[in-house]
Amino acid sequence: MNFSAKLSRPWLFLSPQKAHDWAPKALKLMSKFRRYRTLTWKPMTWRHLEFHNRLGVAGGVDKNGINIVDWWTWGPGFIEIGTVTPKPQLPNEGQIIGRNFNKKIVWNKMGFPNDGADIIYKRLNQIRTPHFTPIFLNIGKNRNTSLEEAHKDYVTLIERFRNTVDAFVINISSPNTEGLRELFNTTYFENFLGHIKNAIDSGKYDLNPPPCLLKLSPDMSIEDLRFCLETSVKMGLDGWVMTNTTTQRDGKSEFPNKGGLSGQVLSKISRQRLRDSMDLLGSNRKDKLIVSVGGVMEPEDVFERIEIGADLVQVYSTIIFEGPWFFEKVFNESSLYYALKGEL
Ligand SMILES: Cc1cc2nc3c(=O)[nH]c(=O)nc-3n(C[C@H](O)[C@H](O)[C@H](O)COP(=O)(O)O)c2cc1C
Repeated sequence: MNFSAKLSRPWLFLSPQKAHDWAPKALKLMSKFRRYRTLTWKPMTWRHLEFHNRLGVAGGVDKNGINIVDWWTWGPGFIEIGTVTPKPQLPNEGQIIGRNFNKKIVWNKMGFPNDGADIIYKRLNQIRTPHFTPIFLNIGKNRNTSLEEAHKDYVTLIERFRNTVDAFVINISSPNTEGLRELFNTTYFENFLGHIKNAIDSGKYDLNPPPCLLKLSPDMSIEDLRFCLETSVKMGLDGWVMTNTTTQRDGKSEFPNKGGLSGQVLSKISRQRLRDSMDLLGSNRKDKLIVSVGGVMEPEDVFERIEIGADLVQVYSTIIFEGPWFFEKVFNESSLYYALKGEL
């Protein structure tokens, strides 16, 4: 990336770690004199939730729910907060983030650093209701919680936040919490989802319990994906977010083997996972929500994911490389794209 391109994205002059640490403050500053922005393209309603458009902020961007009102000034259709764990926790040790501008790849090994449920609960309760866009909460387990007890962390978080957020995203697909992905194995999966479903359904006064989505790993085999989708349909989950970061490497990767890659390198894999899921689900999809994330780098990628069958799309790495203007860029290109298809 050349100097002038970097000038419009000054955070790219900082180290990845510094840029990451400063991002919440910088976004607050950049949003200070802006108003809430509605960018309406392909609006939709799903289970009482209204989306002005189909593009949202992915999990991990606003881990602590510090920037929700700031994001509302840039026009996303929804925002996913977290990953939040019951107790606060620090990041994994050592270097936890890296990036390559030219290849548009981000590497991270964060391990759910966050302020914990108590603080984030108070913060989210100070946000205006009704929410300007739907707020999804991505939840995970603390790193010291065993796999046998993992469901208890998720149930605690569901019980705590059920009246505060619009939907939950269950995260057992991060590669950065030791052993977490094992919860997809037959030994745990059905039993684990059973606990989650009971917690969602047991709200005493809820007419509309918050929908519950599962975030998938891009590194599953087709057989594992089939088992995962079939079991989550059987257990009554409301949809999926596909996908998290990948542990796959092309052999000569400049990044450490541990940790997950996102951005351009994930594009083909996430797109294929979406196609596979559409095929595997077939008519069982019914009104389940499908959110596609991973390697969405340009507006055409957003429209393509919707074309393949996603209801909603999210971005993380593109926000690092392009900034929060990406939501407006997609909005601007949406009119021409859908006009040419005769859908406007
Ligand atoms: C630095 C970083 C931190 C992330 N943290 C989380 C997280 O806390 N929870 C989560 O579910 N996904 C997290 N993700 C994964 C993203 O939500 C997304 O699934 C992935 O990056 C693929 O999208 P992208 O190619 O648009 O970045 C993180 C990704 C990055 C790059």
